Amino acid sequence: MKDFKDKVAVITGGASGIGLGMARAFAERGMKLVIADLDEAALESVTKTFRSAGVEAVGQLCDVSQHEQIQSLADLAVDTFGGVNVLCNNAGVGIPTATHNMKLKDWKWIIDVDLWGPIYGVEVFLPLIEAQGEGHINSTSSMAGMIAARRMGAYNVAKHGVIALMASLERELRARRSPVTSSVLCPGPINTNISANSVQFRPSVAKPKPDGPKAGQMGAEIQAMLEKGMQPDEVGALVADAIENDRFWVLTHPRWTKTVQKQLDAMNNDQSLTKA
Ligand SMILES: NC(=O)c1ccc[n+]([C@@H]2O[C@H](COP(=O)([O-])OP(=O)(O)OC[C@H]3O[C@@H](n4cnc5c(N)ncnc54)[C@H](O)[C@@H]3O)[C@@H](O)[C@H]2O)c1
Repeated sequence: MKDFKDKVAVITGGASGIGLGMARAFAERGMKLVIADLDEAALESVTKTFRSAGVEAVGQLCDVSQHEQIQSLADLAVDTFGGVNVLCNNAGVGIPTATHNMKLKDWKWIIDVDLWGPIYGVEVFLPLIEAQGEGHINSTSSMAGMIAARRMGAYNVAKHGVIALMASLERELRARRSPVTSSVLCPGPINTNISANSVQFRPSVAKPKPDGPKAGQMGAEIQAMLEKGMQPDEVGALVADAIENDRFWVLTHPRWTKTVQKQLDAMNNDQSLTKA
């Protein structure tokens, strides 16, 4: 999609972090915004900020794990702006817990938000975007969609699923010469509040079993790594650039693909799993 001016972008999880970075990148390119999020206060605040800067923006409280709420989001976009050109399935959550300690309630929550959210997004928005005659769907996966690191089982499952969803979609769109293109964002560490936000929205009432003596330390280590990561506005610009230049893979830390290559090499050599 070459021309962004006056086109309409819907961004889930758009009130914070990477989603907000995408919203800013799209606004800079003249797009109208529909921002969806579960955090009402953040949603109100960012929508107000965009509007006072002269950007046409609406905010919608939306839980992406609920199909009918994604449908209402699409209805709002069409009623407000007459159609949709770009969808970013970006809302996501995760908590570091080993598979043997993971509560089923947390498995369901993470997969519902991180994988079913994008599935619902594609199902509801693809016909609307195709009806515009051009447009794009981006979903946010992660490097965790390529390498399943320890203590992130549910997140890894969901993010592997998001890559499979988008790769299937993109092949099919090209095979049937659709006017819609698609891409998948696979960030490495990005400086956002995902750890705190995920704790805030976690539905499980039961505390997770202590995940060994290093559990708290691990949460702090992840947070420290994210704080040293790329800024979300840079990620937003990468996504806008990928949409403009028809790139499927959007990688914030391309050197990390070496780890993926090591996994493939081990698969080919002695069929072992690398330690990553
Ligand atoms: N931060 C990183 O290092 C990193 C790395 C790889 C992938 N990601 C992915 O990037 C995406 C954005 O995360 P972020 O780092 O910007 O975190 P963030 O917490 O800053 O932003 C996520 C937003 O999603 C919203 N949200 C949570 N659950 C929701 C739901 N059910 N429905 C609607 N909105 C919901 C939150 O309120 C928040 O505003 C996620 O999919 C995440 O998995 C992040």
